[in-house]
Amino acid sequence: MPSTAKILDDLAPLLDKGGLITTADDMERYRVDWPGHRGALPLAVARPATTQQVADVVGYCHRHDVPLVPQGGHSGLVGGALPDADTPELVLSLERLASIRDIDPINFSISVDAGCVLQTVKDAAAEADCDFPLSLGAQGSCQIGGNVATNAGGLNVLRYGMMRQLVLGLEVVLPDGRLYNGMKTLHKNNAGYDLKQLFIGAEGTLGIVTGAVLKLFPRARETRSALLACPDVEAVLGLYALARRACCDLLTAFELVPRACLELALEAAPDLRDPLDAPSPVYVLMEVAASGPVDLDAMIESLFEQGMEANLLSDGVLAGSVVQAERLWRIREAMLEGQRNRGEHLRTDVALPISALSAFHARASEAIGTMSPEATIIAYGHIGDGNLHFNILPPANLTPDRCTALLHTLEERLFEIVTEFDGSISAEHGIGRFKQAAFLERLSEPEFELMHGLKHLLDPRGLLSPGRILPPSAK
Ligand code: FAD
Ligand code: LAC
Ligand code: ZN
Repeated sequence: MPSTAKILDDLAPLLDKGGLITTADDMERYRVDWPGHRGALPLAVARPATTQQVADVVGYCHRHDVPLVPQGGHSGLVGGALPDADTPELVLSLERLASIRDIDPINFSISVDAGCVLQTVKDAAAEADCDFPLSLGAQGSCQIGGNVATNAGGLNVLRYGMMRQLVLGLEVVLPDGRLYNGMKTLHKNNAGYDLKQLFIGAEGTLGIVTGAVLKLFPRARETRSALLACPDVEAVLGLYALARRACCDLLTAFELVPRACLELALEAAPDLRDPLDAPSPVYVLMEVAASGPVDLDAMIESLFEQGMEANLLSDGVLAGSVVQAERLWRIREAMLEGQRNRGEHLRTDVALPISALSAFHARASEAIGTMSPEATIIAYGHIGDGNLHFNILPPANLTPDRCTALLHTLEERLFEIVTEFDGSISAEHGIGRFKQAAFLERLSEPEFELMHGLKHLLDPRGLLSPGRILPPSAK
């Protein structure tokens, strides 16, 4: 690898003005992510403005053995985009590659640059009377390339699927700088291997996503949101099975919110109020949506009645206006702020068969409660997808070292239980660096060999996002 000075000299002409950042101060914001983790100082930050510039930079890195890591909106939760501490890396930020290329409301598709912020894409779809349904707390900052790379999930997966189900085509710069142009707008295409799927969820280890064709849906004209109070997780699951049927499959979100999370939300956003009179152990935040005339109020009221009769819920509030609905969903957003404000804690993202969630929740809560009675469990999330964020706030007053050690031990035990239930240690956030050890422990030999083989085929020099998902030795 050439000296840093030589690399910077060589890269500058490949990029336009503002395309290369080299001072420590200016690079600071490329070292941190939303949760507040801090990576090393990168070699430099390349900010290409075109796909060709991405290809030129990546091709240069390939020829000169320069490791590099792509970055989107820094909202990833597993440390994949943070520059490595051992080997200096070039950060390749997609933030300037941010145009909507085309929107086709008859084909129900939109073609975008990878650096487009998710909210911008949702707004562009809405202007064309369509919905792009991927919805998550970070949508104001995360980018489509990051969503593709992490195969993001979020709030609406139960109706629309994860990012993998929403991508029709992809454009990817391969680790040697060649361009894979798969920007097809086809809804059906069985011509050979589905190559685009390789790059979805690969967390930037197999190629740099520069463009995507995304699937759109007719715009929802009517939506209703409700917060329902339930006695326990088992009742929530019973209610879920009921809601899927009672709401004619128009359910777009069904989120588990335990009391501790509601309290974290109220703590983080003092303008929010508890929407119900009496506290409840757990709540469901749900939404139904229809693109045409359907009596959603009647549907939800009937669900209330059936749920009450079956003792699955004790109380509830149906938002009577868009503003009220927004306030309900602000609880879901603010509880994440509330967690972040509490400092170091365990974030997890586990998947279980939906029907096993109640037994898993009970077993895991008991195990963690026995190991650390003072810890606070906040198990929330996309229960309609079998995806729990079984997070743990540590007891107060631990030294930082003891806190880290305790959380690690609790995570190991939690993951053992996930494995006993044949679940997954990552439902939607990916592996990155933070989940790598637990991931590798659970990988069978054929799985490891296949993944290693793919990585080697595409990136034989191991220069792209080294050490994410697979160990750096897998070159
Ligand atoms: P970054 O954080 O910048 O990068 C993430 C990974 O993708 C890194 O490994 C990076 O190297 C790689 N990458 C980025 N861009 C590219 C590219 N163009 N080509 C190749 N690789 C690339 N996730 C969910 O799934 N569901 C949720 O509900 C959810 N809620 C969240 C709420 C909050 C408040 C926050 C902070 C995060 C949440 N996340 C959620 C996680 C995160 O938002 C997603 O993982 C998101 O898809 C990351 O996008 P990004 O642009 O911020 O990527
Ligand atoms: C959530 C993110 C953290 O669902 O995945 O809140
Ligand atoms: Zn989530």
